[in-house]
Amino acid sequence: MAKQKQSPWKRILIILAAVIVIIQLVPFGHNHSNPPVQQEPNWDNPQTRALVQRACFDCHSNETVWPWYSNVAPVSWLVQKDVIDGRRHLNFSEWGTRRHEKLDDLLEVVKEDEMPLKIYLLMHPEADFSAAEKQQLLDGFQRTLGGGMPEEVMPGGEAEHEGHDDD
Ligand code: HEC
Repeated sequence: MAKQKQSPWKRILIILAAVIVIIQLVPFGHNHSNPPVQQEPNWDNPQTRALVQRACFDCHSNETVWPWYSNVAPVSWLVQKDVIDGRRHLNFSEWGTRRHEKLDDLLEVVKEDEMPLKIYLLMHPEADFSAAEKQQLLDGFQRTLGGGMPEEVMPGGEAEHEGHDDD
């Protein structure tokens, strides 16, 4: 065995580098598919769609923009998981097929700052809306899904579930 004392840091760095290389071989995280867009909501206007695209489409549509770091593990795992889960809950490209399409759900997550996910905002400051943009988004959801009345969106306001299920 080597007699001279080696710096432990060198060894740690080499191991770390090896781990980073090896985890790239994990198959999960590379499937960056964007299935065809089937049906979008009947947007009240293009601005609403633009806001939703900016803040929600990467995880809740089939038009995900996959940044370079989404190819690098372990970030790729997080991104892939968020997109899979996000699309499963709500998909603006397959409208009419998911559970969380109710106006109430959408208003709530925006008002409570639950969406977009905080971690997403680190790399996507453009999705960190100002108060005015947030209100615009809430009004847009209201007009798109709430039957047209852009009433004052009140915190905790109860819109009846007037959404009819399409079979
Ligand atoms: C970084 C990915 C990401 C972005 C961006 C994102 N979401 Fe989500 N969203 C998720 C994930 C993952 C889930 C499911 C797990 C959860 O609820 O945290 C989810 C769940 C939801 C749900 C269901 C909430 C629930 O209680 O189950 C709604 C509604 C929603 N998102 C709306 C939005 C809206 C509106 C935007 C844009 C303003 C948005 N999301 C942006 C990843 C994202």
